[in-house]
Amino acid sequence: MSHTYDAAHVGSDSPASTICHSNDSSASAAGDAKAAEGQEPLFLIEGLHVCAAASADSSSGEESPSGAGNGQNAGARILKGVDLEIRPGEMHALMGPNGSGKSTLAATLMGSPEYEVTAGGLRFKNEDITDWGPDERAKAGLFLAFQYPQAIVGVSVLNFLRQSMAARTGTEISILQLRMRIMDWMERLGMDPSFADRFINDGFSGGERKRNEILQMAILQPDVAVLDETDSGLDIDALKVVANGIEAVKGQKPDLAVLAITHYPRLLELLNPDYVHILLNGRIVESGDISLARKLSRQGYGAWS
Ligand SMILES: Nc1ncnc2c1ncn2[C@@H]1O[C@H](COP(=O)(O)OP(=O)(O)OP(=O)(O)O)[C@@H](O)[C@H]1O
Ligand SMILES: [Mg+2]
Repeated sequence: MSHTYDAAHVGSDSPASTICHSNDSSASAAGDAKAAEGQEPLFLIEGLHVCAAASADSSSGEESPSGAGNGQNAGARILKGVDLEIRPGEMHALMGPNGSGKSTLAATLMGSPEYEVTAGGLRFKNEDITDWGPDERAKAGLFLAFQYPQAIVGVSVLNFLRQSMAARTGTEISILQLRMRIMDWMERLGMDPSFADRFINDGFSGGERKRNEILQMAILQPDVAVLDETDSGLDIDALKVVANGIEAVKGQKPDLAVLAITHYPRLLELLNPDYVHILLNGRIVESGDISLARKLSRQGYGAWS
């Protein structure tokens, strides 16, 4: 979640902005996302161009939460005009080869200081959120499940969720009430109750980290959830458990819109997305339904490159 982003690094006058802007002279300010037919769009990505920012913190030596680079290649153009329109309750899937920009898109949607929007923008609930910080976005109802969730030693799962919930809703529920709610979801997600008192992701296996991300989504009840390769590292049974967990969250909150990033159709067969998009070299090159994901698994990306 947004806790690992350090808003202090966001700066419009960072050195990268010069590099990025000069690279993007061809960028249009808005993409060709169409106005919503029927229902109003909840989330709009319009002509989004994104570069790696020079100000990203690369001092920790850990893999970045987005799974992306460490800022050494600042100024690199990564997204080159992405348009996407998400309405309440819709399930979108985003597929694309390694390095095509999926995690960059996810991190940018959440306001990561690792990336700089050089053209286009983001609208959420009819507001331009392009310049909002990660905390504001999370509070407004955006959620990101990281491809590589980071450990936070010293902060228990329970305490993190308690503080995140208070920030998200502006109200605090009792620790007992929250513990009961967490236990309920942990059971559904096949997590041992002891995880509530462990430090976030500290010593968690890959699959346990992914379940913990869905637990956060279940508790925080966002309006838009971006799930970055939530299926990676899960065994066959865990994949079903997590897919059921996502469905259960949607069952409780039917308006929840999901953008699920994945390499494989197996999660999508369980989630049954409304739309499947293919991101290639920083652009969405085709959108369709689940048959697109099936075609991809048969043919690979050769047909698009
Ligand atoms: N902070 C950064 N600094 C420099 N380059 C970056 C940064 N973040 C991403 N990149 C580069 O941008 C490209 C897209 O990376 P991204 O992580 O978005 O790919 P992806 O589609 O999520 O790939 P994967 O399927 O492997 O997770 C890669 O070439 C990556 O090296
Ligand atoms: Mg990725």
